[in-house]
Amino acid sequence: SKRQRPVIAIDGPAGAGKSTLAAHLARRFGFLNLETGAMYRALALKAIENDFAFDEEAPLLELANHTRITLEPQLEGNRVLLDGIDVSRRIRDQDVTSAASQISIHHNLRAWMVLQQRALGEQGGVVMEGRDIGTAVFPDAEVKIFLDAAPEVRGNRRYRQTVPTESPTIPQNSDRQIPEPQSAEQQRVAEEAILRDLKERDYRDRHRAESPLQPAPDAVVLDSTTMTLEEVLAQAEQIVHSHLPSN
Ligand code: DC
Repeated sequence: SKRQRPVIAIDGPAGAGKSTLAAHLARRFGFLNLETGAMYRALALKAIENDFAFDEEAPLLELANHTRITLEPQLEGNRVLLDGIDVSRRIRDQDVTSAASQISIHHNLRAWMVLQQRALGEQGGVVMEGRDIGTAVFPDAEVKIFLDAAPEVRGNRRYRQTVPTESPTIPQNSDRQIPEPQSAEQQRVAEEAILRDLKERDYRDRHRAESPLQPAPDAVVLDSTTMTLEEVLAQAEQIVHSHLPSN
């Protein structure tokens, strides 16, 4: 490859902690972190705003060709601009989350995304996070980590991100549901709804014909089901070290 610096690819299902891991590794190694899911989300938002059907590829591709999506890496996650407008928070809403998963099944739309993502990372020095980075965007990435966790654990982490008492500020990068659970019963119902949405999205992401979510053959699979955040970060750092000659 003509890259001077490496590409670190982080893939995995929703709620596994990819964004936290990508932001950490980027800081640790002085790389840029790029959240490719935000690009699918931004285009999904534009489709919603313009009343486009999510299941018709040609109009969506036409829409994409008139759309400028910019990722601005920050210490925590990305600032996302859609045609110059900051949509960083709006794209985390549940309607956009679901729409992003639905539009991401389309072959030519994915090709449009992949081209831009390759351009963003071609110099290297990036931690790129998504579903198909190690398999489709950068099959030659120097480091590939597939971060997984059991659905119940991922659903519970997402749920806790929405509970105001435990985390007063909603993390920029968590899917926002409208959280006002009070009773234990309401909480249970809210958590179950999140788990249902997450499983539905998982199923779609893993079973689509185009670049389904799956580990690249040469990816290191990290299952965080029973790990603390600190353990995940430490193990991932080790994986990076063991794959990069000069670190
Ligand atoms: O990572 P995320 O939750 O922000 O991603 C939103 C949706 O975008 C996800 O359900 C599937 C799609 N996606 C994708 O197909 N390929 C990527 N590289 C990133 C996201």
